[in-house]
Amino acid sequence: MDNKKTVFSAIQPSGELTLGNYIGALKNLVNLQDDYKCIYALADLHAITVRQDPELLKKRTLELYAIFLGCGIDPKKSLFFIQSHIYTHSELAWLLNCYTQYGELSRMTQFKDKSQKHADNINVGLFCYPTLMAADILLYGTDFVPVGEDQKQHVELTRNIAQRFNGIYGDVLKMPEPMIPEIGARIMSLQDPTKKMSKSDENKNGCILLSDSPDDIVKKFKKAVTDSYSEVKFRGEHTGIDNLISIYSVITGKSVIEIEDEFAGKGYGDFKKCVAEAIIQELTPIQKKAKEYLEDKSYLEECYKDAAKKALEISVKKLSIIKEKIGFII
Ligand code: TRP
Repeated sequence: MDNKKTVFSAIQPSGELTLGNYIGALKNLVNLQDDYKCIYALADLHAITVRQDPELLKKRTLELYAIFLGCGIDPKKSLFFIQSHIYTHSELAWLLNCYTQYGELSRMTQFKDKSQKHADNINVGLFCYPTLMAADILLYGTDFVPVGEDQKQHVELTRNIAQRFNGIYGDVLKMPEPMIPEIGARIMSLQDPTKKMSKSDENKNGCILLSDSPDDIVKKFKKAVTDSYSEVKFRGEHTGIDNLISIYSVITGKSVIEIEDEFAGKGYGDFKKCVAEAIIQELTPIQKKAKEYLEDKSYLEECYKDAAKKALEISVKKLSIIKEKIGFII
């Protein structure tokens, strides 16, 4: 256990999970648990950079916690906690703010995008979002940070902050590396294969939600756009069929060639039915387990409190070292 490298990742409890999140992120976080010391958090402090309804935030946080457990995040193997339960994250974020330049934060693409999208609420938290993320990562001596392409810039900024801090105070902060999932990670909209599958897609049929019923799943795949050919063949042209093949491949573990063989001479209708069926097979047990966990509030509480306690112990040590280096009396 001790010589395992540390992985840290977090996800915001700010919306429903999609099949894209599941395949691109969650499944990967589950698989990493055997080979790494995994620390995962629900980033509720990050979520409030955009206005949240209090009841909904609570509901979503618990739901997401239950879904993670349902997917196979094992509280015995990994530390899985709720970010706001540990004060060390906000405290280190403040300290790191003083080692981060205004110019650096203004260059963050996510800040630019989000301030356009939420033009009526460009709060300072949204601006400092990356220093809180840096705090999350740096508190645990993280080696690897599994994130999507969109978060890579934030991990790079984290490295710059760490380097700057170490330049002043010596070797205090561990340099993290982003870990971007390979192929299969980019699951595209079922309605427009040039766009990422997203819950904010105007066309609801483009996006499979983790909570979708078998009926919804069948319907959405039935309506999925394909291409103008008529064979189940991966052409690398980013068509709907390429996307369906990728989805089927990650879910079943079959290679593209095996899939092409399996469906040789068959129509798109048959293929879509099989993809839908594979997704239903994968999601049904997760939905069932997540529901059971969600009904057992005291078990959930035991899990997140225990994880927070352990994460606090680790992070407090790091925070004290950092404060001492800065020159605070501790
Ligand atoms: N910003 C990340 C996202 O929206 C979530 C996140 C918060 C995170 N803290 C993190 C991811 C630390 C990796 C490491 O996807």
